[in-house]
Amino acid sequence: MISAHGSDELTPLYVFDESHRLQLKEEANHLPNVLLNSAAACNVVMLGAGYFTPLSGFMNVKDAISVAESMHTSSGLFWPVPILNLVHDASMIKSGTSIALKDPNVSGHPVIAIQKVEAVEELSKEQVSSIIQNIYRTTDPKHPGVSTFSSLGNIVISGPIQALGYSYFQDEFPGTFRTAVEIRNEISRRGWQTVVGFQTRNPMHRAHEELCKMAQHSTGADGILIHMLLGKLKPGDIPAPVRDDAIRKMVELYFPPNSVMITGYGFDMLYAGPREAVLHAVFRQNCGCTHFIVGRDHAGVGDYYGAFDSQKIFKEEIPPGTLDINIFEADHTAYSKILNKIVMMRDAPDHKKEDFVILSGTKVRAMLAAGEALPKEFARPEVAKILMDYYQSL
Ligand code: ADX
Repeated sequence: MISAHGSDELTPLYVFDESHRLQLKEEANHLPNVLLNSAAACNVVMLGAGYFTPLSGFMNVKDAISVAESMHTSSGLFWPVPILNLVHDASMIKSGTSIALKDPNVSGHPVIAIQKVEAVEELSKEQVSSIIQNIYRTTDPKHPGVSTFSSLGNIVISGPIQALGYSYFQDEFPGTFRTAVEIRNEISRRGWQTVVGFQTRNPMHRAHEELCKMAQHSTGADGILIHMLLGKLKPGDIPAPVRDDAIRKMVELYFPPNSVMITGYGFDMLYAGPREAVLHAVFRQNCGCTHFIVGRDHAGVGDYYGAFDSQKIFKEEIPPGTLDINIFEADHTAYSKILNKIVMMRDAPDHKKEDFVILSGTKVRAMLAAGEALPKEFARPEVAKILMDYYQSL
């Protein structure tokens, strides 16, 4: 199987031994504690589940700046996005001590991890703004990722963690949330050698379905890992349970049996376009994928990124050999009224824009909310029905 990133094997930070975990939870009650923000709680989940191999915890200021500027930590590990525990006030937290990290996303705020505090440092306004510019390529406060990052505080608590839980993801998505360890094990169990990973934060329409099938065909992959984001999204995006139902229905009806694993991971969307695409590739390698689909406007939002910036970053900014996973570059994919099938636009160079069936997200939402059927060239009717029921319940 493809190796983990920067390590011979996965390094999940979850404490698997139950009695040790219970003992740590008990000890945590007597430690100073910090209520995490949602982004940091998701970092704990990703670290705990092995997705963020080989990191051992939260980055310090030097690493955060180095990662933001050069996609490498100060010790030379390739990593695309700072992994931070940011707070507004840490006056009660001393370096050299252990602290309990509490989960803001679960009622009662249970302890989700113990952190050994290596340093408590402050980011200056200029440093915050430079990190934001490097990661999001904009400092516009209207960008949803920028506005979230700017709200998290500027005190950095760094140091290794021991994860004690997976937040709400295991309870709310028992059939879908999987750790990177579980996904690797399942890939081995199925005997898949070549696996295409598909990132999504949307229900899957015809174009997404065909994209997966084209990628599988062209790479000769044994299977497809549909790996959906289960964390927080911006207002207007479709909630995870609805997406999950829609994707399951599509796979059940339109993919050959045993060709797809439907799974999800516990992370809030950053909307960081190219940098997030690279993070996506890193943690899909950690899941055991040999290939990863990056299509049009991957992890983008609004008009902040060029449609193919998330492909360009792999070619222009990442030295060859940095990652083992291969990027499957997908061109804009849509139904051709001339060929009567879904195609990548680069494969239909004689077509004009009006030869394709293209609907904007806004148009799709308006149609579903009004109870209008989506064209079958755009969405499978069974998928459209699930989405229409959701929009009409609002
Ligand atoms: S994302 O934020 O998770 O990237 P989305 O779920 O819409 O958003 O996209 C999942 C993947 O499919 C991304 O790689 C994206 O680039 C790709 N994609 C979505 N729609 C199209 C399309 N019509 N043509 C080509 N690629 C697409």
